[in-house]
Amino acid sequence: MSIFRRTTRILLCTTIVLLHTSCFNKKPEAVLPAIIPAPLSQNILDGAFTLNSNTQLVFENEFKQVAEFLKSYLENGSNIQLTETESSHKISFVKDENIANTEGYELTVSSDEIVISASSPTGAFYGVQSLRQLLPIEFENGTYKSTVVTIQNIAIKDAPQFKYRGMHLDVGRHFFSVDFIKKYIDMMSMLKMNTFHWHLTEDQGWRIEIKKYPKLNEVAAYRKETLIGHYSDQPHQFDGKKYGGFYTQEEVKDIVKYASNRQITVIPEIEMPGHSVAALSAYPELGCTGKQIDVATKWGVFDDIYCTKESTFNFLEDVLDEVMALFPGKYIHIGGDEAPKTRWKTCKNCQRVIKREGLKDEHELQSYFIERMEKYINSKGKQIIGWDEILEGGLAPNATVMSWRGIGGAVTAAKEHHDVILTPGSHCYFDHYQSTNEDEPVAIGGFLPLEKVYSFNPIPEELTTEEAKYVLGAQGNVWTEYMQTEDKVEYMAFPRMIALSEVVWSANKNKDYKNFITRLELYQKRLDVRNVNYANHLYEITGITTLKEGISYVALSSSSKDKMIRYTLDGSNPTIKSSIYTEPLKIDKKVVVKAASFSKTSQVSSVFEQAIDMHKAIGKKITLSVAPSKQYSGNGNESLINGIKGSDKRYGDKEWLGFDGKDVEITIDLGVETNINTISTRFHNGNGNWIYAPSQVVVSFPGNDEILPIELEHSSDKIVDLKLDIKISTRYVKLKIANFGVIPEGKAGAGNKAWLFIDEIIVE
Ligand code: ACM
Ligand code: ZN
Repeated sequence: MSIFRRTTRILLCTTIVLLHTSCFNKKPEAVLPAIIPAPLSQNILDGAFTLNSNTQLVFENEFKQVAEFLKSYLENGSNIQLTETESSHKISFVKDENIANTEGYELTVSSDEIVISASSPTGAFYGVQSLRQLLPIEFENGTYKSTVVTIQNIAIKDAPQFKYRGMHLDVGRHFFSVDFIKKYIDMMSMLKMNTFHWHLTEDQGWRIEIKKYPKLNEVAAYRKETLIGHYSDQPHQFDGKKYGGFYTQEEVKDIVKYASNRQITVIPEIEMPGHSVAALSAYPELGCTGKQIDVATKWGVFDDIYCTKESTFNFLEDVLDEVMALFPGKYIHIGGDEAPKTRWKTCKNCQRVIKREGLKDEHELQSYFIERMEKYINSKGKQIIGWDEILEGGLAPNATVMSWRGIGGAVTAAKEHHDVILTPGSHCYFDHYQSTNEDEPVAIGGFLPLEKVYSFNPIPEELTTEEAKYVLGAQGNVWTEYMQTEDKVEYMAFPRMIALSEVVWSANKNKDYKNFITRLELYQKRLDVRNVNYANHLYEITGITTLKEGISYVALSSSSKDKMIRYTLDGSNPTIKSSIYTEPLKIDKKVVVKAASFSKTSQVSSVFEQAIDMHKAIGKKITLSVAPSKQYSGNGNESLINGIKGSDKRYGDKEWLGFDGKDVEITIDLGVETNINTISTRFHNGNGNWIYAPSQVVVSFPGNDEILPIELEHSSDKIVDLKLDIKISTRYVKLKIANFGVIPEGKAGAGNKAWLFIDEIIVE
């Protein structure tokens, strides 16, 4: 056992003065427990512990670093200085081998002692993080002025659900300061996340110092300019400003140590064979063509990738030698995603390797590449992780798979008895939009609201209990094409990281979104004092339109229970005097619904706006030849004839239906013969997200001879409109929509079938 020494006499004096002042203050109320992620079990007990300068910190030597972390948090957070003299009033760290999960802990607060028990420092650290959330938020920024704090008596037993609890950050597209990386890691550790996946190399910049290859830092770390606006804005424009930077090895060591003190392992990602344009700009001889190329200035997937010649392997082994020396963790992430085979197909060297190794094609060549790197990394006592493309052409023997293109990769890998980490775009891509608010800052696309993150179950249904054991956990990915600033990264990462922390830590029985929201409202105050620029959409209104007997109803709601919703139907902005929403609004004419959340005195959300059209197909019967993909099924098939258009920005909202590589036939039954004049709809065409408008739509009217094939010209517009003027009397309208087909070489997702996204079908 050891005891801390008080550091300076000056501090001691301050303590005495403040202690004296506090005698005149009323004892503060204890913070009610609202811990995130929700602990396995917690029992609130009567009474409270009083923490003051008579409190002594005791610990076994193994817990020294964690105890120091707590001491520093308490003393920097307040005017309390813990005593070093024997006291009956203690915070004790106790080693308890009976706590089977090394990340588990027990935290017992009683009137005269706080005990944190764990079988390892990691568990003890998580006990500290829970205790932290039982303290007033002012501790977070050192503004807790009193010298006494009351902590609610409580007994917590806790352990995580999953052993991999990760957050990723892409520093290639945009580069962030060491201080920011530390802040990000610190915020992760508060949520008991344990893995930081640091995406260090990209087409747009190489970000880690490699001493043997100085041009990686002189050349590959800088691009001459950057794309302005969204990739789909045409024509492409650039800012003309040189951009870049890299982390020195000393900075990397500092960050790894900072993370380790917070029980976080850092996994470096060195991308290969694709996303390597920056490296090739420094060493073009490592590419297939040998031609000089520039560090990429826009986003996407590029044909220039590492060649499979010997010199590339020598280079990568040298790079990895330096990388492995910096990162003590078990894993090295070698990327493996989005590597077009265009160059390999026409490269003499690569074709020679295919022949020499008896490989079938370029996919097997990619497997050869990854397996060879795996062998090297394994020989140094480390394991590889790769994106799910490493499954194509055969999986390297000891690889862990990160499943990002849905959960299919996870299912395949787990069935082959490989460890997997779930990061599907549908639930874990925090670069997607999180709100349908039109003022939302620009994002890559997609729609991933907080509740959807929270609903994520990392264990795919397709796995047996035995196979599910290969699921290590899940991770949130933060790709930064559209995150130029640290503020923007925080905006996109929070609060979705908070929801994910509960997905990976908390037991399913303790997961309850409504309850989570009440705790999140408190947690956000903690983020406020830490100056975290989180997105707050809790009071934002969501509108859901349903049809009952051919009549539309709009139901309004927000995540927070205790705010009032006020609305208008005349296009004016809602005010504190507008009608209070109580039940779904019946819509029987063309209207614009506007609504906002209000406290007793003021508006607390942005204005929700929903235009509702009236046309002849609303509320009629619609049938589809194939179901939309489960994660893009809108609000059911009726979303296509409910009077509401999808957003121009987000294909993932409730109004677009998405089909994965399929043709679809849609039949609308208008009930009776109806005179119609036009049929119109829209297709999403976000090619960067593998979404393509169809090339042909055939409109017909069953029971009628009229058949109209419409060819759609391929366009780079994000939305493609279809409008057909036709005067006809018909009961049925049928649209036969052909999927675009296979995505061409050189485009994102090349070789896969395109997605098809359809909006409202307006019949007038
Ligand atoms: C990825 O999002 N390309 C892994
Ligand atoms: Zn080659």
